[in-house]
Amino acid sequence: MKIAVLPGDGIGTEIIAQAIRVLDALELPFEMETALVGGAAYDAHGHPLPDATLKLAKDADAVLFGAVGDWKYDTLERQFRPEQAILGLRKNLGLFANFRPAICYEQLVDASSLKPELIAGLDILIIRELTGDIYFGQPRGRRTAVDGHFSGAEEAFDTMRYSRPEVERIARVAFEAARKRSKRVTSVDKANVLETFQFWKDIVTEVGKEYPDVELDHMYVDNAAMQLVKAPKKFDVVVTGNMFGDILSDEAAMLTGSIGMLPSASLNASSQGLYEPSHGSAPDIAGKGVANPLATILSAAMMLRYSLNQEEAAVRIETAVKKVLAQGLRTPDIFSKGTTKVGTVEMGDAVLKALA
Ligand code: NAI
Ligand code: MG
Repeated sequence: MKIAVLPGDGIGTEIIAQAIRVLDALELPFEMETALVGGAAYDAHGHPLPDATLKLAKDADAVLFGAVGDWKYDTLERQFRPEQAILGLRKNLGLFANFRPAICYEQLVDASSLKPELIAGLDILIIRELTGDIYFGQPRGRRTAVDGHFSGAEEAFDTMRYSRPEVERIARVAFEAARKRSKRVTSVDKANVLETFQFWKDIVTEVGKEYPDVELDHMYVDNAAMQLVKAPKKFDVVVTGNMFGDILSDEAAMLTGSIGMLPSASLNASSQGLYEPSHGSAPDIAGKGVANPLATILSAAMMLRYSLNQEEAAVRIETAVKKVLAQGLRTPDIFSKGTTKVGTVEMGDAVLKALA
């Protein structure tokens, strides 16, 4: 099992270090190799995704990614910015399925602004298609008068588009994921107004016939946005397009209280995947030893489940995280009165102990 480890920038190195300790403690035959990515790679090699890093990622079964970016790179030309590394990896590895679980640990309900009974025990999985939709459809542009500036343009447009294979493959991913959970899929669309999403709905329905054991329903995106806040526990697996998924996954993230707790995965057709916390490099707290490593540790658990076929080890990690929260240990981002404040390394220590 080959794992490419790309810590990146800011808190990336601190949180990845804790995830590595946890993986090491499992005593499974992992081959882990680390490489530079993002701003760190730009500083050393003049590119955020050097060829050697890309090759390492391509040759691995999974990529464990920290975070990239820092304000100091904001003035660079777009292609050299740290965040381009993620886009480059997505594109080169063909990562088309983005998994964003929203889990609300009982112990953390206080950290959310929502009513405890709405979110306690929440465990949903949003699957966002990542390569199609209005973000990539052609043609796109603007009808402009003379110069090329938006301010002088009369009109701008993008194209919403999905092909049959694109919808089929993301639908399959969703049904397969549901089989490992409570066997329910909600497909989110806007079929009442958009051709693209009537098409989406029809294809998902077709694919659903191959999974008679999984219950499928459909929901309009505006209603889904409302239901996520009103009764989020109604959902299990939610599958949707690139743009709706972008918005709904951020909405779902906020149900759970802290961005420091949320893992994510992006998968390709051969179950090769990139696993990373949903948050960024947090330059405001980098180097202070206070970042929450749990999102990254939970991303490592997802990696075990979805790319490395080690369900048991994945559950072991997730159980250890729950134990640590039950012990009342909290990094500052999830701290509340009556709990014990710990730093990044102490949180790692506690997870290691809870694994045993
Ligand atoms: P951010 O997610 O890095 O930080 C937002 C806020 O959440 C900050 O106050 C930060 O301290 C806090 N936070 C984030 N992760 C945390 C953790 N594990 N523990 C405790 N607190 C945590 O988003 P922001 O500030 O918008 O972006 C900072 C940099 O990260 C930018 O350069 C941005 O482009 C990059 N970024 C990179 C991503 C990636 O690598 N996938 C994703 C999002 C942003
Ligand atoms: Mg977003």
